[in-house]
Amino acid sequence: MDIITMVSPEIEKYAVDHTTPLPDHMEALKQYTMDNMPSAGMLSGPIEGTLLQFLVWATGARRVLEIGCFTGFSAQMMASALPEDATLTTCEIDSDVAAIAQSHLDRSPDGHKIDIRVGPALETLKSLEGPFDLVFIDADKTSYADYYESAMGMLSDRGIIAIDNVLWSGRVLSPKDDSDRAIAALNDRISQDPRVRHVLLPIRDGVMLVHKA
Ligand SMILES: C[S@@+](CC[C@H](N)C(=O)[O-])C[C@H]1O[C@@H](n2cnc3c(N)ncnc32)[C@H](O)[C@@H]1O
Repeated sequence: MDIITMVSPEIEKYAVDHTTPLPDHMEALKQYTMDNMPSAGMLSGPIEGTLLQFLVWATGARRVLEIGCFTGFSAQMMASALPEDATLTTCEIDSDVAAIAQSHLDRSPDGHKIDIRVGPALETLKSLEGPFDLVFIDADKTSYADYYESAMGMLSDRGIIAIDNVLWSGRVLSPKDDSDRAIAALNDRISQDPRVRHVLLPIRDGVMLVHKA
């Protein structure tokens, strides 16, 4: 399965070829995910992963929250830009998937910075205390509005929220099912939210960046 993208395969390949290459253990995790996970299309991949790594580096983030761990690719990309004593908490509902992610973290140079919390993210979020410097939202789409409000409540003053799949392969233009409608509604809501400044980047499946105004 290929990584979802809004650009042609040729442009995607060109962009990957002109982006800092993944280190060997991340290339191996990407390949493992593509070869073994039925929903490998959920993987953020090298370009979005490197963008998230940039955000951690540029903001000097020390506390990162991720909603949607999967095999831990984006978590590891973000953690690689964190200082040694900084932390990333990531939420995953599927214990089997979390175990796969943990097995890769155990072999990663950045694995010790990452704490996987298994369970429904809405429950996990109730047990967490902010502030977080970066929140990456990338789990079930029908809960996106709740994740956004929860992230806003725990965001540090100069923190950033990054939200994945906000173009949803173009389905936001003509929403048909609950996930389509939830993403389109959140994009509209953020666009009218006086608390924030935001930009929708047409990278991969669409990434919305938000910070407090
Ligand atoms: C799109 S994938 C995350 C991809 C990952 N961020 C990456 O870049 O590789 C979404 C993950 O969220 C998990 N998930 C779905 N619903 C959830 C929920 N309610 N709470 C926590 N995790 C959930 C799924 O099991 C899946 O592993």
